[in-house]
Amino acid sequence: MAFKSDANRWGVGARTLHWIMALLIIGAGIVGLYMSDLPNSPQKIRIYALHKSVGLTVLALLLLRFAWRLADRRPDEVPMPPLQAMAARVVHLLLYALMLLLPLSGWVYNSASGYPLQWFGLFNLPNLTGGADPALKDVAHEFHEYGFWLLVIALVAHAGAALKHHIIDRDDTLVRMLPLLRRRAAVPTSVEPAPVAAAPTAAATPAEPVKENTTP
Ligand code: HEM
Ligand code: HEM
Repeated sequence: MAFKSDANRWGVGARTLHWIMALLIIGAGIVGLYMSDLPNSPQKIRIYALHKSVGLTVLALLLLRFAWRLADRRPDEVPMPPLQAMAARVVHLLLYALMLLLPLSGWVYNSASGYPLQWFGLFNLPNLTGGADPALKDVAHEFHEYGFWLLVIALVAHAGAALKHHIIDRDDTLVRMLPLLRRRAAVPTSVEPAPVAAAPTAAATPAEPVKENTTP
């Protein structure tokens, strides 16, 4: 399995980053929704710290993903109507923007709240706002929350489109992004009449049987 992408399929590098990040983002979202309503306790502080560390990991992996995307190529586009291709590009762009802005707004929110920030308790990260800032804190919080729901909408469109390609169009869009699965064999786009076997010609000798056309 090639590490880099080729014309037909995403490489191991791009696929690994895509799926690890998808899991971390969905995990951060679920933990984020769950933790906000918890009663104050040391457990709540631990869960907040976990949420922030996972979110910061998403940010770090995104920088790696941008670098990898520049070094790697994108597979050729699966044939589809131009409007669909444009919609896919817009949703991908939105997903990239939110993968950057959600962790950043969380970091700004945390900084403007005046809280320290650590990555899995291993090292400290700088305060982005130079101390507590109640007005900025509110803006960052709104952005973090509404940005998340925009991500959910974009993700539903994105995953829905991938499944539509797989189940209805029966093309390679999803398969070439999944680990392990092999690409589909070419699927006929229309029902064509079976090829007519060539009539034996005078050139064919009786000792040479006429071969059947076994291609599909
Ligand atoms: C992919 C990354 C992230 C996702 C998907 C995400 C998602 C969420 C969600 C869904 C909530 C609940 C919103 C609400 O109902 O108020 C939340 C809350 C929060 N997030 Fe994130 N987050 C991410 C990254 C971060 C980062 C990197 C930080 C900080 C460094 C952070 C700090 C917070 C804080 C402090 C809250 C609590 C807000 C409150 O108490 O109301 N998040 N996040
Ligand atoms: C938070 C979750 C996810 C995010 C942020 C995300 C983001 C992205 C982005 C930005 C791309 C474009 C890659 C590029 O062109 O550079 C992409 C490609 C892709 N994603 Fe996701 N994705 C997520 C989850 C999913 C899920 C759940 C599925 C399937 C059910 C999926 C299926 C695909 C496929 C098939 C491609 C390749 C599209 C193509 O070859 O044109 N993704 N994803």
